[in-house]
Amino acid sequence: MEDSRKIRILFVCLGNFCRSPMAEGMFRQRIKEAGLEDRIEIDSAGTHDYNVGKPPDARAQMAALRRGVDISRLRGRQVNTEDIRAFDYILAMDRENYKDLRAICPPEHVRKLKMFLDYAPGRREREVPDPLFGGDAGFERVLDMIEEAAAGLLEDIRDRL
Ligand code: 4NP
Repeated sequence: MEDSRKIRILFVCLGNFCRSPMAEGMFRQRIKEAGLEDRIEIDSAGTHDYNVGKPPDARAQMAALRRGVDISRLRGRQVNTEDIRAFDYILAMDRENYKDLRAICPPEHVRKLKMFLDYAPGRREREVPDPLFGGDAGFERVLDMIEEAAAGLLEDIRDRL
């Protein structure tokens, strides 16, 4: 049965292959460090089904591991309307992801949809870019953004607990 005291957070990108698995792993690490594992549930999903059942991209895994986060056991899945009902925060990496989520979102849940970088107000960028077709520096840049937004998100959640 669902634990109603838990706050549920879902990270969403296009493939659930690079950005959202890195965000899931990084945020889980922060939650552990904060001793809030029992209060928060974290998951990730993609708007598309390209990587269903697959582990995250090898470069995403290596980049996360270099920062002490093992995401090798995560597996890709596609987001669905039931997720939108079940989760409290549904965080899109880019505007396209947001638009795709909006298209399957029942009107009463629209307030749950946010851009992940809304939690990193100090950054100029509003979107976490897809690093898949770029070099390794792209993964590092994405992880910098994720770390900053994860810190802001943790503060937001602490205020709610
Ligand atoms: P992600 O990256 O959305 O960060 O997981 C992508 C993964 C797969 C594809 C595109 C982006 N793809 O086209 O398969």
